[in-house]
Amino acid sequence: MKTGLYVHIPFCPAKCFYCSFAVCVGQEAKADAYLDDLVVEGQSYAGARIGTVYVGGGSPSQLTDAQISALFAGLRSIFSFDKNAEISFEINPEHFSRVTAEVLSRCGVNRLSIGAQTWDDRRLRNLGRRHSADITLRAFAAARNAGFKNISLDLLFGFSGQTRRALIDDLKKTLVLSPEHVSLYALTVEPGSRFFRDKVSAASPEKQTLFFGEIIDELTAAGYAHYEVSNFAKPGFAARHNLNYWEGGNYIGLGASAHSHLDGHRFWNEPVFLKYFKRMRAENSALAGEEYLTPEQRLKESLVFGLRKMAGIDMEAVEKSIGCVWDPATRERIEAFSVAGLLSRSGKMLRVTRRGLFLLDEISRRLL
Ligand SMILES: C[S@@+](CC[C@H](N)C(=O)[O-])C[C@H]1O[C@@H](n2cnc3c(N)ncnc32)[C@H](O)[C@@H]1O
Ligand code: SF4
Repeated sequence: MKTGLYVHIPFCPAKCFYCSFAVCVGQEAKADAYLDDLVVEGQSYAGARIGTVYVGGGSPSQLTDAQISALFAGLRSIFSFDKNAEISFEINPEHFSRVTAEVLSRCGVNRLSIGAQTWDDRRLRNLGRRHSADITLRAFAAARNAGFKNISLDLLFGFSGQTRRALIDDLKKTLVLSPEHVSLYALTVEPGSRFFRDKVSAASPEKQTLFFGEIIDELTAAGYAHYEVSNFAKPGFAARHNLNYWEGGNYIGLGASAHSHLDGHRFWNEPVFLKYFKRMRAENSALAGEEYLTPEQRLKESLVFGLRKMAGIDMEAVEKSIGCVWDPATRERIEAFSVAGLLSRSGKMLRVTRRGLFLLDEISRRLL
């Protein structure tokens, strides 16, 4: 599998109440210098062949059109993108126009991921989003009109007080647009978010589980393959960049908080934007940590990442590719989860069952 490239753009117009990502507000004046930093960081991989690119954040769509063009010119001056590379760009509907969509298309971007979250305006306000559902619709139309044929929509579910009817309404409004890909995330209240500080809770795990079941039924009935825990795609539109993460592939991460993985060597940058920015000026590096995974660790990680894919994991193939065999304790745990109906085997593949899916975090913790 080809190396993936992740580029983190941390700028956001305001921090959504549920968000705990590495973002910064009011630092746009530093964006030009930050884009230069990304190129400096990238120099150490000069010539690397890239199969997928993901520009995420933060809100990359907050960059100006000139900055977006400069970003891709900079990346292309260092890396060699495959002819059929999947090049994704995250869009916050708040600032997106047909003109920006056309700039992205000229830069070679061929997949957009739009943060819709919900189609309920009151809920959007309660989440701290500054756009309405109508603005999201216009962003989607702008993307289509500019010729994008691979669009993903991000939605949240499992807010406190969300009714089944509100959930179905969100799903129906999403399906009417017929996006190629949909990500559905159960709301989590994470330390570092305003919801956490204000002690706002998400719906109970039982309700989130129930809603998740409804989501799977609705989307699969509409022709979307449920190919990863939170991700659904029309045939041929699974996100190649993310599949590479779940398959333990190599990826290079540039920018604040970005993680990289190259053949068992994992390393990551300063997550706080201003720290990253200062260190890049002083040292041309913002490395915050690194680790070398042992073959045994790589094997276990392949298992927990692989189980996120509904297709599961070919345990023998992983053994061969890493050059290490499963330890008896892990085999026993897998057996116990299988007996309990949480994992199942079909042919060479070990996969999570529908019941196991709702307990996957716990299963993964016990397998690591
Ligand atoms: C980096 S953000 C996406 C792009 C853009 N910044 C936006 O919000 O429109 C990626 C996605 O993660 C999801 N997400 C963020 N915080 C979350 C949380 N606390 N719980 C569940 N999903 C979350 C949202 O659906 C969001 O669209
Ligand atoms: S959810 Fe998206 S737009 Fe909102 S603060 Fe987080 S990264 Fe920024």
